[in-house]
Amino acid sequence: MTRFALPLLLLPIVAVAADPTPAERGKKAIESTAFIKAFWPKPAYESAWKVWGLAEKPKDYEAAVRERYGLHPAPYPNDGYPMGLRTASMLIGKGVGIDCMTCHGGSLFGKGYVGLGNHSLDIHSLFEELAAAGGASVKLPFAFSQVRGTSEAGAFAVYLLGLRNPDLSIAKEPKELGLHDDSCEDVPAWWLLKKKKTMYHVGATDARSVRSIMQFMMHPLTTPKEFEKAEPTTPPRRRRAKPCSRRTAQAATAPTARTGRTRTRW
Ligand code: HEC
Repeated sequence: MTRFALPLLLLPIVAVAADPTPAERGKKAIESTAFIKAFWPKPAYESAWKVWGLAEKPKDYEAAVRERYGLHPAPYPNDGYPMGLRTASMLIGKGVGIDCMTCHGGSLFGKGYVGLGNHSLDIHSLFEELAAAGGASVKLPFAFSQVRGTSEAGAFAVYLLGLRNPDLSIAKEPKELGLHDDSCEDVPAWWLLKKKKTMYHVGATDARSVRSIMQFMMHPLTTPKEFEKAEPTTPPRRRRAKPCSRRTAQAATAPTARTGRTRTRW
């Protein structure tokens, strides 16, 4: 082999490694990134069993946590936590936070799947009990879920948006944006999205909108800079929504002849 042959042989390997597909990039981001700060210190997680009324810590603690809160086994390395909980930074040190798979991770026959809706989750108890285990008796600002297997995800977004100014800095006074916590929202499987034109049950959001998905980063400790840092992970990579014609726009905002009221079209 000439001395030029070896570098040439290495070329394709370097090219493949440097250019992950969008699906590979997304998988890595979803499985290994903490997009928000931790909610609870690790000792609070480790001692949650005490608020369950048990006399001693269950032997397989990860399985007991899954059982209690309706979580599922992580099909990727996750520091020994159930899928949906993950190591994340606190103001000082590391703690335990949640991620998309708290609600978007499910299991079939004991095997966890990313993107399968979590239909056994009890997110209200998860937040209430882990706070109590950390010594803070917290009254949650609204019902995070009304019934196991559903959540009030839309209310999270409304509540968190009320804490922010339009430039994403924290507002001095929380805004009342008409929060409802009685929707009992069900989680569709992620892979169905590619067949849809709109997402969410109200059908109001373009299925290609990535900014809508970033709403979950509005944890009060996420700084505007951190949103900017996350931009490359959620680029508006799909074709922009086609702007509607001037005629359609006028029709959508014109008062109706019958009632004189303006029709709202999403
Ligand atoms: C607290 C639970 C919860 C968390 C956390 C959460 N979601 Fe969701 N998500 C839902 C629910 C519930 C729906 C269905 C809402 C509806 O139909 O109106 C949904 C809908 C979606 C949809 C639309 C699916 C469709 O077919 O209409 C996408 C995409 C999505 N979520 C992505 C994400 C991503 C990415 C994250 C993390 C950054 C995330 N979600 C975190 C509960 C959650």
